[in-house]
Amino acid sequence: MILVNAPRVAKNSKTYLLECIDTNWLSGEGPFVTRFEKAFAERMGAQHALTTNSGTAALHLALACLDIGPGDEVILPASTMGACYFAIWYCGATAVPVDVDPETYTIDPTALEKAITPKTKAVMAVHLFGHPCDMDAILALKKKYHFLLVEDCAEAHGATYKGKTVGSFGEAACYSFYGNKIITTGEGGMMTTNDDALAARARKMKIFSFNPAKRFTHDEMGFRYTMTNLQAAIGLAQLEELDTAISQKRKMATFYKKNLSHLKGLKLPTEKRQCKSVYWMYTILIDQKTFGLSRDEVMETLLKKFGIQTRSFFFPPQVAFAELHKFDGLTFPVADRIGEQGLYLPSGLGNTPTEFAAVASALDQIASP
Ligand SMILES: Cc1ncc(COP(=O)(O)O)c(C=O)c1O
Repeated sequence: MILVNAPRVAKNSKTYLLECIDTNWLSGEGPFVTRFEKAFAERMGAQHALTTNSGTAALHLALACLDIGPGDEVILPASTMGACYFAIWYCGATAVPVDVDPETYTIDPTALEKAITPKTKAVMAVHLFGHPCDMDAILALKKKYHFLLVEDCAEAHGATYKGKTVGSFGEAACYSFYGNKIITTGEGGMMTTNDDALAARARKMKIFSFNPAKRFTHDEMGFRYTMTNLQAAIGLAQLEELDTAISQKRKMATFYKKNLSHLKGLKLPTEKRQCKSVYWMYTILIDQKTFGLSRDEVMETLLKKFGIQTRSFFFPPQVAFAELHKFDGLTFPVADRIGEQGLYLPSGLGNTPTEFAAVASALDQIASP
């Protein structure tokens, strides 16, 4: 079986983990947590980095310490992971989805502007599949309407927009270190910010909002979002190899592009000028009429006939949350279409060039002549 996203274990993981065991530091207060946060902040060009136990927790923490609450609207792309919606709902705020760009699949600034109301408090810009959002347009709207900006970099560690690392444009940014991410700690996340006060508040909130002057008293709502020393040790080892990981991802994308471009009915990912995508996953859209098979048929054939695992794109909210009846009747021309046509191919750092070649060959074999 060719896995859709085989993870890689970084070289120093074992040494660092043994250090945790030898020094008896397992909990979230261990030295690797501080080392990982410091190194991550430096690499991402942020003043502060705060580890969490998931990307979802990082998103919730960022929104909570920005005082997003009941009555507030948060605009987000209609094509993203459910975690983005949940983080907004945890705060009691309203999630307002808008359509995405047909080339980059990230939030469409024109749709974003149309959705702004007096209740808009924040925008969540998701750098989907490793490609940066249109930051110039989003920052121009931020200047005009004064909303808070939270960047979701869960899939885009180290991607750049006009040479600037994503995650450095808004009030806060959030990362995921889930097993399939470019940096993984198994489970985990990070929030970054350049705002000293925000960082201090989030640092307290993520561990029960313990009052530093009197432990076991709490001066506001708190969470239990800390990362262990063991996870941070793995994270630090992974961060040391981030640049190698990004080049490996880009090489994988170049290979797929070279070997799939000739197939009719496939839309390959775009990399916009002045953007550097980290190709978290290599995405393709299937045009059934030209390719000869639907997206679901392609996924099934790849799995059953070739043992190749793939994943569909995220579904638009009226599909993803159909049972919750929160978005009944809404439509998003682009998000709806890519939700039906999109899938991603094996793209993990633990996947091999031989596997990528097998995937390209399988698609070649099932495409209509
Ligand atoms: C865009 C996006 N945001 C948020 C998350 C949530 O991260 P986690 O699974 O670490 O909670 C994920 C992935 O899992 C994601 O892909």
